[in-house]
Amino acid sequence: MRNAFGFAFTFLLFFVLDGYSQQAPDRKAAWWKEAVVYQLYPRSFKDSDGDGIGDLKGIISKLDYLKSLGIDAVWLNPIFSSPNDDNGYDISDYRNIMKEFGTMKDFDALLAGLHQRKIKLILDMVLNHSSDEHEWFKQAKSSRSNAYRNYYHWWPEEKGKPTPRYSFFDVNSDAWKYDATTKSYYLHYFSQKQPDLNWENEKLRNEVYDMMKFWLDKGIDGLRMDAFQYVSKDTTWKKYPEGYEKDIIKYYGMGPNLHQYLKEMNKTVISKYNIMTVAEGAGSTLEDAHALVDEDRHELNMAYHFEIMDIGNDPAGYQLTDLKKAFTKWDQSFAEKGWLAIFLANHDVPRMVSKYGDDRPQFRTYSSKLLTTLIMTMRGTPFYFNGDELGMSNIKFNNIDDYRDIATINAYRSIKAKVGDVQAFMDKQKFISRDNTRTPFQWDASSNAGFTTGKPWIKVNPNYKTVNVVAEAQNPLSELTYFKKMVALRKSSPVLVYGDYQVFDIDSPDVYCYTRTDGQEKILIVLNFSVKAFSYPLDKNINISSAKVLMNNYNDSTNFRGNEIYLKPWQALVFKVN
Ligand code: GLC
Repeated sequence: MRNAFGFAFTFLLFFVLDGYSQQAPDRKAAWWKEAVVYQLYPRSFKDSDGDGIGDLKGIISKLDYLKSLGIDAVWLNPIFSSPNDDNGYDISDYRNIMKEFGTMKDFDALLAGLHQRKIKLILDMVLNHSSDEHEWFKQAKSSRSNAYRNYYHWWPEEKGKPTPRYSFFDVNSDAWKYDATTKSYYLHYFSQKQPDLNWENEKLRNEVYDMMKFWLDKGIDGLRMDAFQYVSKDTTWKKYPEGYEKDIIKYYGMGPNLHQYLKEMNKTVISKYNIMTVAEGAGSTLEDAHALVDEDRHELNMAYHFEIMDIGNDPAGYQLTDLKKAFTKWDQSFAEKGWLAIFLANHDVPRMVSKYGDDRPQFRTYSSKLLTTLIMTMRGTPFYFNGDELGMSNIKFNNIDDYRDIATINAYRSIKAKVGDVQAFMDKQKFISRDNTRTPFQWDASSNAGFTTGKPWIKVNPNYKTVNVVAEAQNPLSELTYFKKMVALRKSSPVLVYGDYQVFDIDSPDVYCYTRTDGQEKILIVLNFSVKAFSYPLDKNINISSAKVLMNNYNDSTNFRGNEIYLKPWQALVFKVN
């Protein structure tokens, strides 16, 4: 790219300082606010025994890799015993390890290995439902008078057909499944193998709290509360209006007793440990989210809301202005109280570079680094999904047989049954299927990307020959190197954790420009979300004359004259300004 101004500054500075303890005076400091959380999908991370499925010993063998990233905490997707109808989100024994993943001894060794490296561990608590293979459910369905019957929600057949409830994963979208043994229907918001637990039952709640203590007493550092916004049901089972499923969180989220249960859980369990808690989903409004996490509520710590994730689900693209407005709205609302998780991907959505960036070969690297820059420079705790540090992209399967996710497979069956547009469905899955983020982690250029010596449970993305840890670790310009530098910058800059956020030029369709400021420092972030190269005039209130470039996702000069910056396609720049 030519320098438009003939006036160049080239700075690539990385500050790798030790931990810090200052914070903006108006925000109470906490380790979990300052942490960078790395989400690790165990099934796809590293297989140690050749069965094609990632496991705990595999993770243990990669602890030094985790350490090298500079991250502070690992969130593991569920590792508990499970028949894997929904990859571990259907738990058959909360106090044991999934057999494919290893043993409790492996877990203890993993926890110790992480702690030795000063990395914290967050576990995924799936408490809205269990597996139908859980002993509680087996008992509950054995007879109407069984002691565990009320651990679940039942509708006896003599009451007629149950009030319709929508199921996310059911082929017929029906959340009531008939059980012939006890002539009743049971409720399952997710798959038929994921019956919803009855939180109205105090006995169930106490069992859950004991189980949580079991893990916390082992010394884990945090809990991600899976689908927790759904646990409290309106058990009068009133009829919802036509089309309610299009606004499902409004109807299923924030049920009548949710806050009562959270306060009880906080008092009984959470408050007894120095841990972080994150709520997956945060209701439908800012008020709902605040009610979950504001400090004076004594419920949870951090809201993981879906508004950003819901932008960009259309393969035709999205408006950057929508993304900016959503980030800005949430930041403003949480500027004084409460705390947010910041993320662009997880195991339920596609790869961030394919969704919000551009995964074509000429732009994949740049746009992936740009998105990393965004995550690491927003206020809130970054939750970064494994593989994104390599720039991994969607696999885009052509064939339904390659998919493993129950959500895709059951939706496919449903479309087929209704004689819907199967091709359109398959095209869309290439963009949105959850399996896109679940393909094996790419370690090296050997077969199966070094993930397994066996047959991987899901295919490896063919781009692993170039997109992998070994290739990137040695390359100073790789996504991986950039990620580590970005993490180091965040860790050495309290302003990026606690500082105020101000957006500029919010209506620009191409550029996301914002500052993070505290009493001492001002950081300017300029992100070109387009394939265009152009001169971008900065807001006149930003004085860039003595700016220092902290990060640049291009390996060449940053060109600016006066208050104009020349931006290259998908360029990301971070400056220290005064
Ligand atoms: C959460 C999980 C998702 C799972 C669902 C049911 O949304 O993130 O993977 O399928 O809950 O447990």
